[in-house]
Amino acid sequence: MTRALFADTTVLITGASSGIGAAFAEELATAGARLVVAGRDERRLEAVAVRARNRGGTVVTIALDLAAPAGVAALLRRFKADGIEVDHLINNAGAGVQGRGVSTPVERQLGVIDLNVHATTELALRLLPGMVARRCGGILNVASIAAFQGMPGLSVYAGTKAYLLSWSEALHFELRGTGVRCCCLCPGPADSRFFDAAGMRPPPAIVSMQSPAAVARAGLRAYSRNASHRMSGPLPSVLAWLTRVTPRALNAAVASNFSRSRGRP
Ligand SMILES: NC(=O)c1ccc[n+]([C@@H]2O[C@H](COP(=O)([O-])OP(=O)(O)OC[C@H]3O[C@@H](n4cnc5c(N)ncnc54)[C@H](OP(=O)(O)O)[C@@H]3O)[C@@H](O)[C@H]2O)c1
Repeated sequence: MTRALFADTTVLITGASSGIGAAFAEELATAGARLVVAGRDERRLEAVAVRARNRGGTVVTIALDLAAPAGVAALLRRFKADGIEVDHLINNAGAGVQGRGVSTPVERQLGVIDLNVHATTELALRLLPGMVARRCGGILNVASIAAFQGMPGLSVYAGTKAYLLSWSEALHFELRGTGVRCCCLCPGPADSRFFDAAGMRPPPAIVSMQSPAAVARAGLRAYSRNASHRMSGPLPSVLAWLTRVTPRALNAAVASNFSRSRGRP
């Protein structure tokens, strides 16, 4: 199914220089897609491109900061100049900042919104009209299990992911009958640079981490089936379900254990 959907199509993967995004690139190269991989780190992007090409994919790398004020505009200008038409957008770039809202620099917290919400939304909304006109393609937004409850110590991040899930579900509905899909993937903890980049400790050992490859495969399966949203595996599914049957205040208290700073035991 994945191959039938992606072969000979152009797929833009944001945040493809590591972790889940890099895993999407490898999976989609195998499925015969033409890849455009974006992120800030040119060296890591090139390494991902080499691995994807070894799997038979054609790959263009674009190094840029999507959270910068004109980041998305620069990317779209590049597409226009190079005649790139994006069929599928994997809105995967995302970041968090660990810390209490009151004592974490405001600019760092707003930067999370710039990337996780603003860039993600703008990219999708600018690319959607072309997809709808061609009656094919779609958007896979990468949210998180953090979308299901407030997370003390990672509050802005969890808020951005709740937004992504809500927005994606609505977009999925709006796009019915257009030939274009929208799906939201909600991964549980995955073994990537995410925790380090956010200044967090990885989750307690009792929580098993998924591999980026397993998360990417779950996302592509859900997108291929035109699901509105999907958790990345059984454990995240159970945890998300639990948040629906337990009091919200309790959920936030439990979640605070998962967003510990690297400096705190
Ligand atoms: N790992 C988890 O446990 C987990 C769980 C749930 C959801 N997620 C979500 O999964 C997605 C991928 O994260 P990951 O786990 O694979 O972590 P990761 O390895 O840190 O990947 C994040 C990606 O986003 C890119 N990125 C960050 N800031 C950017 C910016 N300003 N402009 C452009 N690209 C930027 C990074 O590339 P550069 O550094 O090269 O810019 C990197 O490729 C994120 O949306 C994250 O919220 C992760």
